[in-house]
Amino acid sequence: MTVCEAPGKVYLFGEHAVVYGEPAVPAAVERRATVRVEPREDDHVRVEAEDLTLDGFTVEYAGGTGDRPDVDVPTPLVEAAMGYVDAAVEQARDAADAPDAGFDITVESDIPLGAGLGSSAAVVVAGIDAATRALGARLDRRELAERAYRAEFEVQDGQASRADTFCSTMGGAVRVEGDDCEPIDAPNLPFVVGFDGGAGDTGELVAGVRALREEHGFAADTVESIGDLVREGEALLADADPEKPPSSELLAGLGELMDFNHGLLAALGVSARSLDAMVWAARDAGAHGAKLTGAGGGGCIVALDASDATETALSFTQGCEEAFRAELATEGVRVVEA
Ligand code: PMV
Repeated sequence: MTVCEAPGKVYLFGEHAVVYGEPAVPAAVERRATVRVEPREDDHVRVEAEDLTLDGFTVEYAGGTGDRPDVDVPTPLVEAAMGYVDAAVEQARDAADAPDAGFDITVESDIPLGAGLGSSAAVVVAGIDAATRALGARLDRRELAERAYRAEFEVQDGQASRADTFCSTMGGAVRVEGDDCEPIDAPNLPFVVGFDGGAGDTGELVAGVRALREEHGFAADTVESIGDLVREGEALLADADPEKPPSSELLAGLGELMDFNHGLLAALGVSARSLDAMVWAARDAGAHGAKLTGAGGGGCIVALDASDATETALSFTQGCEEAFRAELATEGVRVVEA
C-alpha cells in the first residue's frame, strides 16, 4: 500500500487575472486529500471515494478509462472524482512505463469539492505520486507538478491554470505567471476560510470574465489592475521575514489588497451574495481583509485574522455552512506510507 497526501490552497491574490497572463499568489493550506494505492494483478482500477463532502461511493471499472461506471450517486460527483482519478492513473502508468497497471485506489479528502480550495488538484497530485511510487518509479516535484497540471488540463478541457497543481505539489506560497511557477517565501499567515456549502462553475465563470473583457476596455483594465495589486502584494511578502510571525503592518497591507481584489472580482461578476455576505461578516469582525478564493460564483472566501473573531462571526453568518482556520501548509505533497 502506498499512501500520499496533498494540500488544498487559497488564492491570496490573482485568480481569473492569471488566465490572461497576470501573476497570481496561491498559498497551500492544511486541508488535505489522501490517496491510497495498491497495485492489482489485472489491469482494472477500483476507486473508493470517501468524504468528498458528499456520500462516499465505490466503483470498479475495466482498465480502459472513459467507461461510465454504473453507480447510484450524483453524476457530477462521479465525474469529478472519476475523471481526476482516471487522469492521475494515466499519468502514473505513463511515468512508470506500465500501460497495463491496475490499482485499488481509495480517496479521502477534507477539502470542500469545487469550492475554490483546489480539491481536484490535491487528489490528482497525491494520486499521481502514490500510483507512480506504487509502481516503483519516482518523479521529482517539478515533474509531478507538470503531470498533475496535464491531468487537470485534460479533465477541465484546457481551462486549468498551473496554480492549483503547482501549489499543492510544492506547498507554501507560490507565484504563478503563465507557465512560470516559483515557490516564494511567506510567513505563516492567519487564514480563516468561510464555505457557503456550494460551488461555482469554473468554466462558465472564466467564460463570463473573458466576454466582459472583450466587450469593455474597463473590464480589461480591471484584470490588469488585479495584476498590479498582486505585484504590490508580492513586494510586501518579499520584505517580510518568513521565519517570524507576520507583523501587523504586513497583515494590514495584505488585507487591504485582498479587499481591493475582492472588489475587482465582484466588478468582473464572479462574486455571489453568499460570498459577499461572508466577506462583509469577516471585515465587520475585524479581519485585516477578506476576498473570495478561486473561481467564485459560490464556494469559499478567505480572510486574514489571527484572533477567533472572524471564525466566530462567520459561523453565525447566514449562508456560511462551515468556517475554519486554515494554516499555511509549508509542506506540499508527502508520502504517508511508502
Ligand atoms: O476555483 P479554482 O480553485 O479551480 O480556481 C479557479 C481559478 C481561475 O483563475 C478562475 C481559473 C484558473 O484555472 O486559474
